[in-house]
Amino acid sequence: MRDSDLALSVLQDPAFHTGKSTFFGDMLPSRTAQTALGRAVRNVMRAHLPAYRQRLPEAAAELGPVSQWPQAGPWLVYRCTADALMHPDAPSELHRLVAKAVKGGLTARQPHMWQRARVEALRPALLATITEHVRIRRTEAATAGEPRDVLDAVVGASPEGTTDRTMTDLYVLLLQSIVGNVGYALAWSLLLAGLHHPPGPPWPWPTESLVREAARYRPFVWMVGRPVPHALEFGGLPFERDTILSVSPYLLHHDAHRWDRPELFRPERWDEPGEPGPYLPFSSGPFTCAGTAVAHSLITEAVTALAQGARLTIGGGDARPLVTGSVLPRPFTLRRTPTSAVETQATEGR
Ligand code: HEM
Repeated sequence: MRDSDLALSVLQDPAFHTGKSTFFGDMLPSRTAQTALGRAVRNVMRAHLPAYRQRLPEAAAELGPVSQWPQAGPWLVYRCTADALMHPDAPSELHRLVAKAVKGGLTARQPHMWQRARVEALRPALLATITEHVRIRRTEAATAGEPRDVLDAVVGASPEGTTDRTMTDLYVLLLQSIVGNVGYALAWSLLLAGLHHPPGPPWPWPTESLVREAARYRPFVWMVGRPVPHALEFGGLPFERDTILSVSPYLLHHDAHRWDRPELFRPERWDEPGEPGPYLPFSSGPFTCAGTAVAHSLITEAVTALAQGARLTIGGGDARPLVTGSVLPRPFTLRRTPTSAVETQATEGR
């Protein structure tokens, strides 16, 4: 659907939100259960933000002077959220398998067949081990208290009757949202900043505006769908009940009638007066992403940490999106040169 107003009405009209959100599919029995789970996970991640901020400088240093992106994005986010995803007392085998899956590319649908095959090879052991652990956690009294991690939130908020395996699938879905969506959005922010400005920082934009504009220019989730609630006519066309109407945040973010020069990457637009155009990197309406604010903080904190005391230079990337299930950046390298080294080079060059 290309018409912005029509598209927004699909995402905002209560008629299209009578049932459950497609994000969770049929894994949960009701919309109430979906909302409760979304909130529980969001709360775990929100509570983890101070620890995340603390972990970032060390994890950024671990990337080394030259890192390979976009895969470094999910990896960095994973390194700094690992304790919230799976608390440190969980079996080490479980930590090992989750880390391996993140490294192997489970974080998003990968562009190449060989990458997807690698993910599928990792999946059975990962799912079996998490499912076994879910079974144990369900019997533990600990799950009755405050959730210690995202898995506790899933176990605690899933209604009675949810199978161990479904809880595992819910956990993996959320793991992908947290580590993958945030990690790739981080990669886009760094790539676009580097392509549109000489090595920085300083960049001429606040980090907030940079992250916001990157999510406008290259929204990681480029398509969201809603089932048609009953046979109806929409935009002059007839639709059968349950037909999926898809709205593209990507197209709406590039609507020349609603945005000033949308084809340009201009973080400064967020600091100019006037209403922005339709902006929905986290969707819009009743089924909006439950982690919107947390995700935005995770990305901006990571950009800030990577830029702290270093000059960032991008190598080999371009801004064309790789459209798989989502919008991935093409491979690029990130060079982090400590600012002290940059100053020494400048002094020596005088
Ligand atoms: C850059 C990062 C992220 C992006 C781009 C993103 C995007 C989205 C989008 C577009 C949807 C809605 C899909 C639809 O309308 O059908 C969604 C749903 C959701 N997201 Fe995110 N997300 C991100 C990070 C997160 C994080 C960090 C969390 C958890 C803390 C999270 C939890 C959820 C949940 C629970 C839903 C389902 C909401 C519901 O149905 O009530 N997301 N996300």
